Amino acid sequence: MLFVNPCDFLCKVNNFRRARFWLHSCAFRPCSCALRRRNASIGRLYLFLSDMKNRTWVELSRENTLHNVQTLRGLVGDGRIICSAVKANAYGHGVKEMAPLILEGGADWLGVDSLAEALEIRANGVDAPVYIMGYIELDELETAVKEGFHFVVYNRETFDRLKEITERLGIPALTHLKLETGTNRQGVSDADLPQIIRNYRENVQMKLVGVSTHFANIEDTTDPSYAAGQQEEFNRMISVLKKGGLEPEYKHCANSAATILFPQTYYNFIRPGIANYGLWPSKETLLSARQMDRVVELKPVLSWKTKVAEVKDVPSGRTISYGCTYKTMRDSKIALILVGYCNGFSRELSSRGHFVLIGGRRAPILGRVMMNMTIVDVTDIPGVKPEDEVVLIGRQGDERISAEDVATAQGTINYEVTTQINPMIERRVV
Ligand SMILES: Cc1ncc(COP(=O)(O)O)c(C=O)c1O
Repeated sequence: MLFVNPCDFLCKVNNFRRARFWLHSCAFRPCSCALRRRNASIGRLYLFLSDMKNRTWVELSRENTLHNVQTLRGLVGDGRIICSAVKANAYGHGVKEMAPLILEGGADWLGVDSLAEALEIRANGVDAPVYIMGYIELDELETAVKEGFHFVVYNRETFDRLKEITERLGIPALTHLKLETGTNRQGVSDADLPQIIRNYRENVQMKLVGVSTHFANIEDTTDPSYAAGQQEEFNRMISVLKKGGLEPEYKHCANSAATILFPQTYYNFIRPGIANYGLWPSKETLLSARQMDRVVELKPVLSWKTKVAEVKDVPSGRTISYGCTYKTMRDSKIALILVGYCNGFSRELSSRGHFVLIGGRRAPILGRVMMNMTIVDVTDIPGVKPEDEVVLIGRQGDERISAEDVATAQGTINYEVTTQINPMIERRVV
């Protein structure tokens, strides 16, 4: 897919909006010819994507989503805003499907990274408040204001452009000021505060709706001291704003780990992401929760499935797949499964001892994961045949493969595993 011209791609796919959103998140901006040609006839790529539909798919559990959001609500109680992060295509789960489910579960707002993601949510008919937590390009700010999105602000260029836009349009900008407390990502420093206070006071259309910060390592450790220091700094900076006459309605810093572990981080607004999807932020967060007797049960929402395309016998001593990196050590039965790295099934899983589930049993991956296919060993699994269902993430019979298992094999985190699942793969709510 990466080898096609992105404009051609946009013209040919059936779900233009999703495709544009996906390309946008890869930092591609379509040219106007692509937009004009968007209704052009079905192309080769579209056929490829349609084929993919029945070859690999994602199932999303409605019940587990509702459970997870209700669990978060149980932790923070009523009267606080839950702004669930659905950025990066709802952590790879599928924003079109997940946003309504998360709201049904009791979230109040949705948090996204970009204007494109916010527009994608609206385009899908969701009218809950949307908070854009990532960068908005200066030329996109006018749309963000006109659409009434809430968004984070933290730099002078954005303030200057918003002054011009809000004065010209006469409509408010719903801003949440990010305070730098130790992550050194987005955020205004202490030294910036006097000027920022002046900016807000001089422009009545610049609304300071919220004030926020983000923890650097709250899920990376069982030692909360750095996060506690960040929160102290957050409180101190809020009091500086207050002295300057600025009192935002919302204060927020709690991601999933903070929400699970530290009620003192809630204020009146929380921003959990990964917990909505039934995944733990880290082993450290799980361990801390146990040590602190915080009883929290999260239920994974996502299962990822594919099919067997072929089963065949390969004698001992033969190599399997590209690069001849794996050699059979016995007479083997192998199965070709219909998923590869173009789908987000990482090439890092090649010969890593990682398994998939077939017939309720674990089948190890043999050799390199290819672009569209992967080969697994089914010698010890009787009766495997073409079209049998294969589970890449999720449960089959008594066995289960978690996003964390995949992450461990890939040397990464569960967040990366799910966000890498190709957005073009069909999501089915079950
Ligand atoms: C600003 C901000 N808030 C909240 C979250 C949600 O974090 P988590 O998924 O760890 O709950 C993120 C995710 O990266 C974020 O960037």
